[in-house]
Amino acid sequence: MSILVTGGAGFIGSHTCVELLNAGYEIVVLDNFYNSNPESLNRIKKITGKDFKFYEADIRDRAALDKIFKENEIEAVIHFAGLKAVGESCRKPLEYYENNIGGTITLCEAMRDANCKKIVFSSSATVYGCENVSPLTESMKIGGTTNPYGTTKYMIELILQDLYASDNEWSITILRYFNPIGAHESGMIGENPNGIPNNLMPYVTQVAIGKLPQLSVFGDDYDTPDGTGVRDYIHVVDLALGHIKAVEKVLSTKEVNVYNLGTGTGYSVLDIVKAFEKASGKKVNYKIAPRRDGDLATCYSDPSKALNELGWKAERGLDKMCEDSWRWQKNNPNGF
Ligand code: NAD
Ligand code: WQD
Repeated sequence: MSILVTGGAGFIGSHTCVELLNAGYEIVVLDNFYNSNPESLNRIKKITGKDFKFYEADIRDRAALDKIFKENEIEAVIHFAGLKAVGESCRKPLEYYENNIGGTITLCEAMRDANCKKIVFSSSATVYGCENVSPLTESMKIGGTTNPYGTTKYMIELILQDLYASDNEWSITILRYFNPIGAHESGMIGENPNGIPNNLMPYVTQVAIGKLPQLSVFGDDYDTPDGTGVRDYIHVVDLALGHIKAVEKVLSTKEVNVYNLGTGTGYSVLDIVKAFEKASGKKVNYKIAPRRDGDLATCYSDPSKALNELGWKAERGLDKMCEDSWRWQKNNPNGF
């Protein structure tokens, strides 16, 4: 019996594959390499000393999915595959709806027809929209998303809830990630953005290594302790370990459950810059720039539901997140 990992060559997927293999699971990985590199799969094998089956395929390709379910005994699916760039989603909404929503529907249809009805889905803190006040809890009303990417996650959550309501044989765990950063401590896998990074940590590491001249801090006049935006950064290995608990949950129940995966602590942009400088010994050149459209002042989780129901809690602090992000960047200045 295996766990199918869609998007397993990507940032969070690759770290989760390592933890699944370490925990003794057999895995089958699917990715179309739209936003990843085949080398990440070799690195997963090197880190774990274990092998696994891989399919270069698209989640929108029903025939390819049917073949995977026919050739393997898939017990459950962890579904990471999707497009994730907020700005790009505003320029290419149809591509985002088609890939993320269309792809998830095709995947669920293939799962239903193969009688594999257990899925862990990568959602995002972005589904809380801009009205809710942090700390964010799973019982808050979701929606009011501010970009097509966020709306795809919101709509997929609704689709999965409807799917469960129609057929209680499904077992569904929806994970709302906060801001994943860091890398595996081997320095062999990590976040590998194409072009200029959109997210804070890869931008910081690229400034530190000299690939980019300066970080723009988007706004210093928010209602936060130092005026810069506050987020709930979580080490990607802690996030990956949360998926092990989520898999245990989907394998052992027939329920639909939603969990925040965050630390519960908010750090500002300048906290990140300072912690990164300390961990790396490098200066991060930055300037204060105007606010970025769509950004919130503050966003952090209440992670207690995951602790109470999954027995999961993030263990790695900000210094470790920065050290590991830096080791990955330093060892792989040009990515994979
Ligand atoms: P990523 O881009 O590194 O990984 C996604 C993987 O999916 C990539 O390897 C990509 O090639 C693959 N993929 C995309 N479309 C596909 C398709 N149609 N068929 C097959 N493979 C496809 O992103 P990530 O940061 O690892 O994110 C994983 C998931 O978590 C995504 O669904 C993302 O939306 C969600 N998420 C990410 C963050 C974050 O900040 N990184 C936060 C919240 C939620
Ligand atoms: C963090 C903070 C920025 C870049 C996004 C998505 C969200 C989720 C995680 C997928 C903010 C500031 C950033 C820079 C900066 N992804 N910043 N200069 O926006 O919290 O969340 O990624 O689901 O849906 O929206 O993350 O890393 O882009 O920004 O000052 O060059 O850093 O303003 O305060 P964000 P981020």
